[in-house]
Amino acid sequence: MIDILPIRTQRTTASRLATLDFDHLEFGKAFADHMFAVDFRDGEWQEAQIVPYGDMAVSPANSALHYGQAIFEGMKAYHQADGGTALFRPLDNWARLNKSAERMCMPAMPEELFMQGLRELIKLDADWVPTGAGSSLYIRPFMFATDGFIGVRPSESYRFMIFTCPVGLYYNKPLRVRFEQKYVRSVEGGAGFAKNAGNYGAAMYPTKLAQQEGYNQLIWTDASEHQYVEESGTMNAIFVIDGKVITPALSTSILDGVTRRSVLELARDLGLTVEERKVSSREIMEALAAGKLEEAFGAGTAATIAPIATIGYEGHDYDLPAVGPDAFSKRVGAALDAIRTGEGADAHNWMVRV
Ligand code: COI
Repeated sequence: MIDILPIRTQRTTASRLATLDFDHLEFGKAFADHMFAVDFRDGEWQEAQIVPYGDMAVSPANSALHYGQAIFEGMKAYHQADGGTALFRPLDNWARLNKSAERMCMPAMPEELFMQGLRELIKLDADWVPTGAGSSLYIRPFMFATDGFIGVRPSESYRFMIFTCPVGLYYNKPLRVRFEQKYVRSVEGGAGFAKNAGNYGAAMYPTKLAQQEGYNQLIWTDASEHQYVEESGTMNAIFVIDGKVITPALSTSILDGVTRRSVLELARDLGLTVEERKVSSREIMEALAAGKLEEAFGAGTAATIAPIATIGYEGHDYDLPAVGPDAFSKRVGAALDAIRTGEGADAHNWMVRV
């Protein structure tokens, strides 16, 4: 493998920063000035570069476009209360990227290359990190096949890239979701745990149907019985029932969310009972009817902590009780925000300064 230091950097001569309205950030629409790229060829990662963000040429016959050999991550950098920028749990994303890569027959990304690319890119575009409450720099690492070959076999060459977007909230109000009991997102033994592009593309049609009915998202259920909660479209699903924090146990069909993991660790720190186990739609609806479903929320990097206000089940909508300032989702959301911005103690050493 070639020496990865230093990364060849071509700075933009036409920064777009002045055109960004930091007061009205929408998710995923604005891209910072630069992007990181490194190719994998002849069994090795090649020289890495940082170049101005922009379109690029790829073979129209690459197997990412035809067979979905493409994976990604979602992570965030935060402006720190004392100045500077820090990444939230970047090595968790690096580790998950490599799990996805293995499942999709793609090469592993070395930790040093991932972290070096990330740090240099974020440093170069430091002025793009928003400072407003609830805002952050969303980071999208991804890898895709680049061979010009349409036979169905793993590509021999790949490109790994990172670009970033200054973002505000993904969901700006409590969500209406419904249990999905016809379509499935993934099956046991499938690739649902991997963050591969196809998982998201295949979810779009059922999600569109739900959105046409007025819901924001689905809560996917298991493929064999359509009973047990899997996850929600862009986030893991977490419930508070009778004082206990309950979420589906991880499996080959559920994404191992970094925010999910962080919420559960903070819940344990607070002394709450955490149950990672099968949880059925019926259990949730019975708990709601009995007044024991205290909270339901999504947890994800983009979604952060997204409270659920209404759940659709078997053709009817059910409203959850309003959550007060002491609700677990509020407390854990505030605790995460404090850690991420450097305003609170980082007891788990989650933050990595760039
Ligand atoms: C994330 O939360 O980072 C995701 O990847 C979910 C979605 C935006 C695709």
